[in-house]
Amino acid sequence: MVDPGLEKVVAAETVLSDVQGEAGRLIIRGHEVGELARDASFEDTAHLLWSGFFAEELSAAELKRRLGAARASVFGKMKELLPVLAHMPEVEALRAALSLIGDGHDLDAALELAAAMAVASGNIARLKAGGELVPPDPKLGQAEDLLRMIRGSAPSKAEAKALEAYLVTTSDHGLNASTFVARCVASTKAGLGSAVVAALSSLKGPLHGGAPGPVLDMLDGIGTAENAETWIRSALDRGERLMGFGHRVYRTRDPRADVLKRVVASLPQSAGRLALASAIEGRILARLKAEKPDRSLDTNVEYYTSILLEAVGAPRGLFTCLFACGRVMGWLAHAQEQLATKRLVRPASVYVGPRVMAAA
Ligand code: CMC
Repeated sequence: MVDPGLEKVVAAETVLSDVQGEAGRLIIRGHEVGELARDASFEDTAHLLWSGFFAEELSAAELKRRLGAARASVFGKMKELLPVLAHMPEVEALRAALSLIGDGHDLDAALELAAAMAVASGNIARLKAGGELVPPDPKLGQAEDLLRMIRGSAPSKAEAKALEAYLVTTSDHGLNASTFVARCVASTKAGLGSAVVAALSSLKGPLHGGAPGPVLDMLDGIGTAENAETWIRSALDRGERLMGFGHRVYRTRDPRADVLKRVVASLPQSAGRLALASAIEGRILARLKAEKPDRSLDTNVEYYTSILLEAVGAPRGLFTCLFACGRVMGWLAHAQEQLATKRLVRPASVYVGPRVMAAA
């Protein structure tokens, strides 16, 4: 039996996260995603996910110090090239910037890659907005520093906390496409840099991490709640998929959608957008239920991601890069977990091409 989407294939054992599709629950290394988003910093989450996967073990406080130092160091490596790359689309620019980071297997390599993700993303956004390069501040937490680099000025504590909650919420999610890619590359012993660059390339697609920008495009296209029904019907008639809805694993609401909706509600500047998004969401869910009664199509993480990232002042083109800034924690842990199995990933295929022609 060929299973092109591999949905029935179990390809890894993991201690990192448990995606419970029927129950609509996500457990990240023993913690409910909502609890982690509320209580944990970026560095606490990296500490949680990376623990046991590197020869060197750090406390969360020491990890924060080393990650800050890594941001300063990668900025030194990247500052000449970033203005050149900033002419490219955001994800492509980020991918090229990450290629400057080497292919180690140790904790220093992991710290550099996580740091590079933030330094490059923040500065690509700043340069695209016509601003100057912003050196990182090693004393800050990674989320606050990332937002400071994106905007070129200090964000409020509430905004920094909102972005941090997003990065924590998206830190890991079972064997999604990009994580599987990271594990495949890691299994060849190519190194962590290669695993992360490959994973980012897979995240870019609109069916995976490329959806939140198009969610905002959709909300802008709909404009008002009254307009929603006509707009949705014609999009579905054209065979389009509604961005921010549906999921390969969840057969109910993606738990991350509610976690992020709660975070957005704590930002007063998003009140108007949030009210409109909630009203449109209700209409989309009703229409999907009517059109696809056999499918359980519900809201996924990307819907409220888009509102949150807009509210903290991130430009639309950067949304996929910001997803990568959170998910890099999971990619790195999965890469190390795969490497520890000492097993090359190498599935089989069935040949259905032409037979060898008999010689004349
Ligand atoms: N809008 C309209 N129809 C949809 C949608 C949607 N968003 N999602 C699924 N369907 C329909 C699809 O057309 C198909 O119908 P049919 O069988 O009649 O051809 C059926 O539902 C497939 O359902 P499925 O098997 O549950 O979905 P899948 O595993 O093929 O696709 C998905 C999962 C995420 C790619 C899809 O739901 C989608 O394209 N969503 C929109 C893009 C999006 O929001 N992506 C972000 C995903 S969450 C981030 C992450 O975790 O990576």
